[in-house]
Amino acid sequence: MTAQPFLEIRNLTVELPTDSGPIKVLDDISLAIRRGTTMGVVGESGCGKSMTALAIMRLLPPGFKITSGQILLDGEDITDVPDARMRELRGNEISMIFQEPMTSLNPVFTVGEQIAEAVRQHQGLDTGKAEQRAIEMLKAVQIPGAEARLNSYPHEFSGGMRQRVMIAMALACQPRLIIADEPTTALDVTVQAQIFALMRELQQETGTAIMLITHDLGAVAEMADDVAVFYAGWRIESGPAAEILRRPSHPYTSGLMSCTPRLRLGASAAEGGAALREIAGMVPQLGKMPVGCRFAPRCTRADGYCRTNVPKDVIVGPQHTAMCWKAEEEALA
Ligand SMILES: Nc1ncnc2c1ncn2[C@@H]1O[C@H](COP(=O)(O)OP(=O)(O)O)[C@@H](O)[C@H]1O
Ligand SMILES: [Mg+2]
Repeated sequence: MTAQPFLEIRNLTVELPTDSGPIKVLDDISLAIRRGTTMGVVGESGCGKSMTALAIMRLLPPGFKITSGQILLDGEDITDVPDARMRELRGNEISMIFQEPMTSLNPVFTVGEQIAEAVRQHQGLDTGKAEQRAIEMLKAVQIPGAEARLNSYPHEFSGGMRQRVMIAMALACQPRLIIADEPTTALDVTVQAQIFALMRELQQETGTAIMLITHDLGAVAEMADDVAVFYAGWRIESGPAAEILRRPSHPYTSGLMSCTPRLRLGASAAEGGAALREIAGMVPQLGKMPVGCRFAPRCTRADGYCRTNVPKDVIVGPQHTAMCWKAEEEALA
């Protein structure tokens, strides 16, 4: 195992200027993904998971800016490389699977043309071989009648099928980093399992690193080597998946776990979903962040100190950190 991570994000801050001053959408985020491994990025909606992906891809929405920190890809600082270099990286090294497939499929070309074009460009295959590869990939993501569907346009597919086409296209180029933003949310569990199997297979063959963004901790348990938990623009816990799932340090992570039926240790089948607890309250809105710990208003363990002091990222175990005053007390105890 190489010591240097393939993707490293160091103290990344992304801001949106507003009339009442800049708002930090991502606040001092750090994470590292090792070659050939999968990092699960979890957290409720609105916590900054997609923003992180878009910052890496240099595809932030208009107005949003990286104001500090670095993004290193295989040691290269890509935080402000020229656009031409970034386009090259997006085509060859990094593939992103978006939540919404129409954002990355071109409506005026058939899916066969799009996949074949991608592999022709990136892997230098001739037309016949590229088409063969496109058929293989469509088959791999379980698209029925792959040969015939090669000539269909994106709008001729259902939402779920389109999602699979996009996944086929992203995997066909054998990128060194795949960023998958809720890639299987729209798909049923059987197809989800097939797509995860396909991603793992590709990872074993090519050593690609995967950043899997999901709100499903069950998917993390199945796929991830490491986990980063996001809350309100903070990366509030990170570490090895096995460790975090067995012994979460941040109360928010524990809360997420108690909402995931497959993960609740000792939960009987009879209990079913009915006994699921939700985390009370909601993610704070941008620009209305609490003063101290951003999770404090929803945290059953928070006290006055938590509500007035921003927690530090503390080491709670090997490669395992958490941004929580209570976790720090426990780590020191
Ligand atoms: N295009 C946009 N314009 C303004 N705010 C946005 C935009 N996209 C996302 N946001 C805000 O940025 C924050 C982080 O969003 P996002 O990264 O999409 O969250 P997640 O992917 O974890 O659900 C949220 O508060 C969200 O409302
Ligand atoms: Mg998102």
